[in-house]
Amino acid sequence: MSDKVKGINTVCIHSGELHDLEYGGAVSPLYMATSYDYQVKSGDLYPRYFNTPNQQALCQKISDLEHCEASLIFGSGMAAITNALMAFLHSGDHIVVQTSIYGGTYHFLTELCAHYGISHDFVDGSDQKAFSDKIKTNTKVIYIESPSNPLLEVIDLNMISALAKSRDLVSIIDNTMASPVNQNPALFGVDVVVHSATKYMGGHSDILAGTISCSKAHRDRIFSSAKMFGANLSEYTIWLLERSIKTMGLRVACHNANAQFIAEWLEAHPSIAKVHYPGLKSHASHEIAKRQMKGFSGVISFELAAGLNAEQFLEALRVIKRSLSFAGVESTALLPAATSHSIVGEQARKTMGISDHLIRLSVGIEDVEDLIRDITQAINVIK
Ligand SMILES: Cc1ncc(COP(=O)(O)O)c(C=O)c1O
Repeated sequence: MSDKVKGINTVCIHSGELHDLEYGGAVSPLYMATSYDYQVKSGDLYPRYFNTPNQQALCQKISDLEHCEASLIFGSGMAAITNALMAFLHSGDHIVVQTSIYGGTYHFLTELCAHYGISHDFVDGSDQKAFSDKIKTNTKVIYIESPSNPLLEVIDLNMISALAKSRDLVSIIDNTMASPVNQNPALFGVDVVVHSATKYMGGHSDILAGTISCSKAHRDRIFSSAKMFGANLSEYTIWLLERSIKTMGLRVACHNANAQFIAEWLEAHPSIAKVHYPGLKSHASHEIAKRQMKGFSGVISFELAAGLNAEQFLEALRVIKRSLSFAGVESTALLPAATSHSIVGEQARKTMGISDHLIRLSVGIEDVEDLIRDITQAINVIK
């Protein structure tokens, strides 16, 4: 049976695992070598060529999770994003990008790409037809993030992939916020799927990593520049990431359930002004999200009612940690304007719709009653 038809937890645990033929150990052996006999049948094994045993094994697991032919593993999510983009964009090229995206990606496109003569146009993701209007003769890539960080904007994947194919463009999606458990963009025809594996794949706030999944042909194109950029992940962290992914199906199911419960509870609370979560019927693209997502993930963003101070609210939380990043087993919260999106500047945040008071809550896998109790007591402290 192909791993593509096995259940998600079986794929998370077994797909691509290495077998310990010497001792029969139950987990993949770790090959730390950076130097291999170049005359053995397996070819020129070298970590920067993305082909060492643990890299190949984990790539198989990630490819199966994303229903893609091939994958590459990088030292961070940003390394995966920038390597994917630089493989398809050259000086003089143009890229169409959703406005509401992760601050680091926004910064890369507006600062570094401009240095290399690559131009961009941003598109309001809530106006799904606007993507085609921005395509020019030199456009090579359409880039989206769905759901987006931190506003949980959802883009119609069928629409994007059909548009890209009809105009001979490469479509790239940052699938980090969904995780491969909740969304597989390749099944909707999107060409290249990137992840910050620092988030749901790692899941314990202790691994920095990134992945790219795509066809073999696109993988070869990305590999040809990535092997020179050299942003590889260490073998030990690759081994740890494999271990983390084994529980990803279970973790994400719990993140989904807790977040749905809390989003509905927040929406009904008189001290909350606005909740963004694709699992809510009130979300502008809830119907699209239902079509393309199996679960709505663990990130919610919301605003407190007028007069309540968001920073004081974060300070008053006792179980939920005030912390950067997201998707760990522990619940965390932050103000995107002061953290993940401080780099994009006030004007861009305004265009994206990120207010200074917006709170991003990454719902962990604690008991949901404890999280509700924590939010309740924090609201009572600041009222
Ligand atoms: C949606 C999204 N993509 C990419 C990244 C970058 O990932 P990394 O920090 O692993 O480089 C982040 C980081 O927060 C993110 O939120």
